[in-house]
Amino acid sequence: MDWLILPLAYLFGSVPAGVLVARVYKLDIRKVGSGNIGATNVLRALGWGPALLVAFFDIFKGGLAVLIARALGLDDLLIAACALAAVIGHNYSVFLGFRGGKGVATSFGTILVIDPLLGLGTAVVAIAVMVLTRFVSAGSIIGGLVAVVLSIAMGLPLWKILVCVGLALLIVWTHRENIGRLRAGTERRLGEKTRAPE
Ligand code: G3P
Repeated sequence: MDWLILPLAYLFGSVPAGVLVARVYKLDIRKVGSGNIGATNVLRALGWGPALLVAFFDIFKGGLAVLIARALGLDDLLIAACALAAVIGHNYSVFLGFRGGKGVATSFGTILVIDPLLGLGTAVVAIAVMVLTRFVSAGSIIGGLVAVVLSIAMGLPLWKILVCVGLALLIVWTHRENIGRLRAGTERRLGEKTRAPE
């Protein structure tokens, strides 16, 4: 019955904080800016307060899924699957018709619990790229890839490396439109306001 943790982790991940917080402001976050439900788009549309709230919740739900799996004494592979299930829940939420976000904050939450040093190292690189380029998407993609490299360089167990590889693949996939915009020079920069909702 241990595997029952997987649908639970998926359900945690599915809770769309960005949609819920924006709804308080009578805004459908899916219809403004990039259309993403994550903190970056909430920042564009609603400012830092709501964005930080969304970032916190999205990180928290990923971390919580892994924490519960660990507290139940599940084996490493199940903990790894749990991390991926939470992020898949965020990206393909049952509450949003199996659509969702890009999974960066939720991935970070899972990594932070799986290996805090890896999480912090990854965050430092990702945030540095975001600040230097002012492209959150670039920081997210590079952060995902750096987590894989760091996990190998730190000599972490195979299951932790596999989690990072899985998360990085998901991040690259969910950012495919951002990658197109970055290549075309049309990606929105950090702090750029979005148009008022129609
Ligand atoms: O975490 C999502 C971020 O990397 C990009 O968000 O809204 O610019 O597509 P957005």
